[in-house]
Amino acid sequence: MLWVQVAFVAAVAAAAPAPAEKRWGSDHGGHWWATPSQTSDYIDFGKRWRSRDAVNGVCDLSKAQMPVAPTPLPSPAAGLSLSHVALGRGTQNYTCDLSNSTAIPVAAGALATLFNVSCIAADLPDLLSKLSPIALDLPVPASSDKSSPVYNSMSGRHYFTDLTTAFFNLDTELHPSWGQGSFKKANASAAPADATKGQFGKGDGTVPWLKLNAKMGAVNQYQEVYRLNTAGGQPPKTCEGLPASFEVQYSAEYWLWK
Ligand SMILES: *[C@@H]1O[C@H](CO)[C@@H](O)[C@H](O)[C@H]1NC(C)=O
Ligand SMILES: *[C@@H]1O[C@H](CO)[C@@H](O)[C@H](O)[C@H]1NC(C)=O
Ligand SMILES: *[C@@H]1O[C@H](CO)[C@@H](O)[C@H](O)[C@H]1NC(C)=O
Ligand SMILES: *[C@@H]1O[C@H](CO)[C@@H](O)[C@H](O)[C@H]1NC(C)=O
Repeated sequence: MLWVQVAFVAAVAAAAPAPAEKRWGSDHGGHWWATPSQTSDYIDFGKRWRSRDAVNGVCDLSKAQMPVAPTPLPSPAAGLSLSHVALGRGTQNYTCDLSNSTAIPVAAGALATLFNVSCIAADLPDLLSKLSPIALDLPVPASSDKSSPVYNSMSGRHYFTDLTTAFFNLDTELHPSWGQGSFKKANASAAPADATKGQFGKGDGTVPWLKLNAKMGAVNQYQEVYRLNTAGGQPPKTCEGLPASFEVQYSAEYWLWK
C-alpha cells in the first residue's frame, strides 16, 4: 500500500535534522528486509512497508482487535462483525459566536478522506497504531485525483449531513457498493494523554475516541463505527482572535461494524 510506504518515508524524514518535503508519492525499488513473520510483510528498516496480502486485499479481519481507550468505550453489539477499517485524514470544523466575547468554539462537523487500512489492522496492529500521527503531518490528497498514488487505497469519504449526523460513504467509482450510513454519537472517551495534539508537534489537543451508532430509520450498510487512535482535531479553548468558522486538522482510525 503505497500510502503507508510514503507515510514511513515521511516519518523517517521527520526524524532527520532537516526534514525533507512531505508529500504523497511512491518510492519504488530499494532493499526489502523480511520481518520475523517472513512470509508476507516486509519492513525496510522502517522506511517502507509492504504486505503481499494487503496488496492483494486478502486478509482475515476477524483477527483485528480494536485498541482500547484509557476509559474503555462500550463493546460492539453482539452479533456484529468487523467489516472495514479506514484511516481518516481531514478536518474537524468549528464555529465561533463573534458577538460573544466569552464564546468557546462549537463543533460543526468534519470532513475526511478515508483510506483502506483493513489488512494493516488485521496483520500489523502495531503499525496501524502509528499511522494517525504520521498521516496528520501529510497533506490530504484530493479524492478525485486519479494521479495520486493513494487513489486506489481510498475507501471513501466521511462528512456530516447535519450538525449531529456523521455520514460514511464508502461507495466510490472504484467500489460502488461497499456501503454508506448515517450515525450519531453514542459514547465518547478521552484519547490517551500522550496522543498527538496537532500537526508538526503543536496543537490544541486530541479529539476523543467515539462510538457511533446507526441512526434509526436510516438506510445503513453499517451498524456501528468506532473512531479510535485520534490525532489532533481539538480547537483552541476560547474563540479569542478566531473567525466565525474554522478547521482543525485531524486524523483517526474508523472501525466499521455490520
Ligand atoms: C479494503 O477493504 C476491503 C473491504 O472492506 C477489504 O476486503 C480489503 O481487504 C481491504 N484491502 C486492504 C488492502 O486493506
Ligand atoms: C459510555 O460507556 C460507558 C462504559 O460502557 C458507560 O458507563 C457510560 O454510561 C456510557 N455513556 C453513555 C452516554 O452512554
Ligand atoms: C457566551 O459564551 C459562553 C460560553 O459558551 C456562554 O456560556 C454564554 O451563554 C454566551 N453568552 C451569550 C450572550 O450567548
Ligand atoms: C467545513 O466543512 C465543510 C464540509 O462539510 C467544508 O465544505 C467547509 O469548507 C469547512 N470549513 C469551514 C471553515 O466551514
